[in-house]
Amino acid sequence: TTIPLRERNIILIGFMGAGKTTIGQLVAKKLYRDFIDVDAEIERRQGMSIPELFAQKGEAYFRKVERELIVDLCTNTRLKILSLGGGAYLQEEVRRACLAHGIVFFLDLSWDYWKEERLPLIVDSRPVLKNKTLEEVEQLFFQRQSAYALHHSRVVLNELEAEQAAEQIVESIK
Ligand code: S3P
Repeated sequence: TTIPLRERNIILIGFMGAGKTTIGQLVAKKLYRDFIDVDAEIERRQGMSIPELFAQKGEAYFRKVERELIVDLCTNTRLKILSLGGGAYLQEEVRRACLAHGIVFFLDLSWDYWKEERLPLIVDSRPVLKNKTLEEVEQLFFQRQSAYALHHSRVVLNELEAEQAAEQIVESIK
């Protein structure tokens, strides 16, 4: 069965530290809907933080848990705002579920902006960035860009306040 457009979950994707959680919370508030941060939900269900999960169970385990949760949420919930971890959308099954049942927004920012404004804030809290050189992080940024940029609405965040970005999303689904 297909979920009618007006009832679909709104799904926010994009690179680490783009602001998916902040903007997702704002969108949820504006639309009087529930917000689910997928990473926070994984932490809650697994009873440990994402860095702990990576360290104790490994990335492959994390990706499996992440994929199963997103597919479940996409298929079985409606009218929610979901923010996905930055790597989730790289998984084919996640992309398929999101595109089939949700409305996907890519929160985009330029490499230069991200490197200067966002990287310093998150570098210690994201296991994926650990032990990587700046060149390697840059590579990851551009590799992922091509997966994010497929088939959906893009909100360009450079110079945009979170509030304005949220407003754009809300307006565009009316
Ligand atoms: C990851 C991004 C993180 C989190 C995990 C892996 C990634 O989420 O899911 O650390 O591979 O990009 P954020 O995008 O919220 O930082």
